[in-house]
Amino acid sequence: MVNVAILGFGTVGSGVAEVLTTNGGLIDHRVDDLVRLKYIVDVRDFPNSPYKELFVKDFAVIENDPQVDIVVETIGGATIAREFTTRALKAGKSVVTSNKELVATHGYELLQLAKEHGCSYLFEASVGGGIPILRPLTSCLAANELEQVTGILNGTTNYILTRMIKAGLTFDQALAEAQANGYAEKDPTADVDGHDACRKICILAALAFGRHVYPDQVTTEGIRGVTLEDVAYADSVGYKIKLLGRAIRQPEGRVCAFVAPHLVSRENPLSGVEDVFNAIAVTGNAIGDVMFYGRGAGKLPTASAVVADVIDIAKDLKKDRHNGWEEGASDLVVSAVGLASPWYVRAQLSAGEARERCGDVQLLARSGAPAGETAFLTAPMTEPEILEKLAGVDVSSRFRVLV
Ligand code: NDP
Ligand code: HSE
Repeated sequence: MVNVAILGFGTVGSGVAEVLTTNGGLIDHRVDDLVRLKYIVDVRDFPNSPYKELFVKDFAVIENDPQVDIVVETIGGATIAREFTTRALKAGKSVVTSNKELVATHGYELLQLAKEHGCSYLFEASVGGGIPILRPLTSCLAANELEQVTGILNGTTNYILTRMIKAGLTFDQALAEAQANGYAEKDPTADVDGHDACRKICILAALAFGRHVYPDQVTTEGIRGVTLEDVAYADSVGYKIKLLGRAIRQPEGRVCAFVAPHLVSRENPLSGVEDVFNAIAVTGNAIGDVMFYGRGAGKLPTASAVVADVIDIAKDLKKDRHNGWEEGASDLVVSAVGLASPWYVRAQLSAGEARERCGDVQLLARSGAPAGETAFLTAPMTEPEILEKLAGVDVSSRFRVLV
C-alpha cells in the first residue's frame, strides 16, 4: 500500500483527491499496488466533503506517520509550503507539488534535500498545468543540446487577452471569469504582471540548461501595457499579442531569460493558443522544433499532472530521480537588452518621422486611429538601439516581434 497526504484542499488539491478517487482502479493497476489517500490538511473545515474523515489540521500528524509515503503540496507560496515540504523531505517522504513559486525560488535546495534523504521532489504540474513538459524536457529530449524554450506560460493572462479580444470583455470582467474558473493565483497580480510566467520560465530554464535561474534574475513585464489598440494594429498585419516567457542558451553556459508581451505571427503555432491553453516551444540541436500544448491551469488538468508524479513515485519509492538541476550563480543570467528583434511601436509621431528615425519601417493601420498616432514594425535591432532612435518621442507601446 502507498499512502498519500494532500496539503491544501483548494482548486488543485481537491482535484488531486478527485482524480485519485475517480481513477483509483486504473492507478492501482498501473502502480501494481494500492495507492490510498490517507490524510488531507487544510486550515478550513470541509464538513460536507466526501473526504471529511481524512482531514487533519496538524501537519505533524503526517510528518510523524511512517505509513505516509507521498505528500502532495498544493498550498502555494514559499513560506508555510516551504516549511512543510522541508519537513516532509527530512522525514524521508517524497513530495509532489504544483507550486511554481516554491520550485522557482527554492528548487535547488529542495532537490538536494530530497537526494540527501533518499526520496523525490517532483513538480510536473508547476509548469503548463496539465501539459506534460518537464518530464519530456529532461527525458525524451535528453539527447539534445537545447537551444531555446519559448512559452505561453500563464493561462490567466492568455484567457484575459482572448476574452477581451473575442468577447469584448473589459480587463476586469475577463479577470473575474479567470478567477471564477480557478485559473488565477490567490493574488492575481502574479498572473497579470508576469511573475507567474517568470517562475515557470525559471523552472524550464533550470531543467533545459541545468542550473537554477532565480526569478529576481529575470526581467519581467506583464500584460497591463497591452491595449485593444495594439491588438488591432497587430491584427491588421496578421499578428497576435501573446505574453511569452523565453530562455535562450548563451555562450559559456549562460542563459538569456525574460518575460514580455510579443507580437507573434499567425504562421507561428503559438499565435493560435487561446483561452486557458498554454504552449511551450522547445528547440534542440537534434530534434529541431517541438511544441507542447494543452490546458495551462484548472482543477482537473493540473491534478492530472500532479497524480502522474504520484504514480511515478509510487511505482518505485526509492528510485533516484535526480534531474541534473545544479546551483545557480549571480552571473548566470543575461538580460535581453542585447537580443536583436524587430519591434512593434505605437507612438505620437508622423509616418515620415518614424521612417526618418527608424529606417525602412512597415506602417500599420487601424480604424479610428487618432491624428498624430503612428504604429509600425521595425527591422531587427537591440533594445538600446530602438530606445536611441525613439529618444524624445511619446511612445505609447513598444513590444518585440517574435522571429
Ligand atoms: P487554492 O488557494 O485554491 O488552494 C490552496 C489551499 O490551501 C486553500 O484551501 C487554502 O486555504 C489552503 N491553505 C492555506 N494555508 C494553509 C496551511 N497553512 N495549511 C493547509 N492548507 C492551507 O490554490 P490553488 O489550488 O489554485 O493552487 C495551489 C498551488 O498550485 C499554487 O502554488 C498555485 O500556483 C499552483 N497551481 C494552480 C493552478 C490552478 O489552476 N489553480 C494550476 C497550476 C498550479 P484558504 O483558502 O483558507 O487560504
Ligand atoms: N495562475 C496560473 C495560470 C495557474 O493562470 O497559469 C497555472 O499555473
